[in-house]
Amino acid sequence: MSQPIPQPPGLPLLGNIKDVDPSNTWWSLKKLSEKYGEIFQIKVLGKTLMFVAGAALAEELCDEKRFRKFVGGPIVEIRYAVHDALFTAFDNEPSWGIAHRIIAPTLSPSALSDKFNEMRDITNELIENWKGLGVNNKIAPLGDLNRLNLEVTTYTLFGKRLNGLTGPEHPALKGMEDSTSEAMKRPTRPGILNWLFYGGKLKSATKTLRSYAAELVQYRKDNPTDRRDLLDALLTAKDPQTGKALTESEVIDEIVSMPIGSSTAPCLLTTAILFLLQNPEVVTKARQELDAVIGNGELEYEHLSQLKYIEGVMRESLRLSFAAPGFNIEPIPKKDDKSPVLLGGGKYQIAHNQAMIIVLAGVNRDPEVFEEPLAFKPERMMGEAFENLPAGVKKWFGNGKRECIGKHWAVQFNMVVLAKMIKEIDFEAVDPDYNLEQDGWFNVRPINFQAKVKPRDI
Ligand code: HEM
Repeated sequence: MSQPIPQPPGLPLLGNIKDVDPSNTWWSLKKLSEKYGEIFQIKVLGKTLMFVAGAALAEELCDEKRFRKFVGGPIVEIRYAVHDALFTAFDNEPSWGIAHRIIAPTLSPSALSDKFNEMRDITNELIENWKGLGVNNKIAPLGDLNRLNLEVTTYTLFGKRLNGLTGPEHPALKGMEDSTSEAMKRPTRPGILNWLFYGGKLKSATKTLRSYAAELVQYRKDNPTDRRDLLDALLTAKDPQTGKALTESEVIDEIVSMPIGSSTAPCLLTTAILFLLQNPEVVTKARQELDAVIGNGELEYEHLSQLKYIEGVMRESLRLSFAAPGFNIEPIPKKDDKSPVLLGGGKYQIAHNQAMIIVLAGVNRDPEVFEEPLAFKPERMMGEAFENLPAGVKKWFGNGKRECIGKHWAVQFNMVVLAKMIKEIDFEAVDPDYNLEQDGWFNVRPINFQAKVKPRDI
């Protein structure tokens, strides 16, 4: 006998409309997952929305023989900006495979090793800016790291410096914020309101982002180079399977998608700074490792694979920040078979076409898997301890063929920035009682977190 799927009590007709705040959806889902556990559902305007927040069920949903990425809600809305690009393509769109085969080789670990110096040198610019701020400064780490991320993404992947670490913010940052916030909110409003009052915001954000991309293409055409990077592949490579190249519009779609994807890294890094402040013994251990491996010299590519504790800090930060807060799954449709889908060996039963949202705030802190799930312990993310964790709690980068294509870029960037920040900067919280509260759209970040920075006191 299957069990009923838990659901918060709702209002007549309106259902659970009050249980999810449309201006902070993921925070509401985090709270619901803490209350209801591994699976729950809500009803909004007659529609059932289903959420999975336990590690074992999440792992089950990652079985690609039974389930696939569900492209719906906000992901469909952001197609206004990027059409059928990698992140937004429906399962049956051939454009996904063509773009994937063209792009993936340029984001492989070996291709990215060439980009290490660029990542590190631009990160050094931020570190030097912080060191020069003098006494009694106050920074918003998220703002600075967003700038760094856009700068490094744009240079390493598309070969142009924006020089945007200081001074006016590059318009693409606001373009990303506006387009993703609008994509999240549109499915929660009646269509007529979207059309009447909110179309302009998405339109203007899209224009900003597509202009950013078009300028990068134009810059490359005006400045021919033998640089091998993602832009080169987008403009010149052919899909080995079909022989097809990307159209001009498809190139823009893919360029725009990359900073939107990579904007998750600064969310992760900002939250990591907070975790480090709350766990000074972790900073001590991390610095012991950094000093032993790097000494007084500069961070080099060869050091990265030796920084096992820093890797543990990064993974534990991915786990506890759930910077990419979730992803959507649906049962693979079966012709002429509308029978319910069973989960947990029959414990739960869902409709054959029921989409589900995996809520990583629940999955990553599942008490069935982690002792003291809320504690920040890099050791559990190292060596055998990490290998022995169930696959379901390591889904920070999504799953299977639709797993994050920028995963290796993100790991390399996060390692560089964490290593440089921990080795060279002393952080102090502006508000020592700051408690983590997050908001965000396609990714989540600490709200109003501020810090003071100074060169490390040796
Ligand atoms: C800490 C950093 C990052 C995290 C946690 C993260 C997480 C994710 C997740 C969970 C997905 C799956 C989404 C889904 O199933 O709907 C995804 C997909 C994607 N990510 Fe990332 N991401 C990060 C960084 C990046 C970077 C640096 C890039 C680009 C350079 C990027 C580009 C993409 C793209 C294009 C997809 C769609 C892939 C596809 O469907 O084929 N992400 N990411």
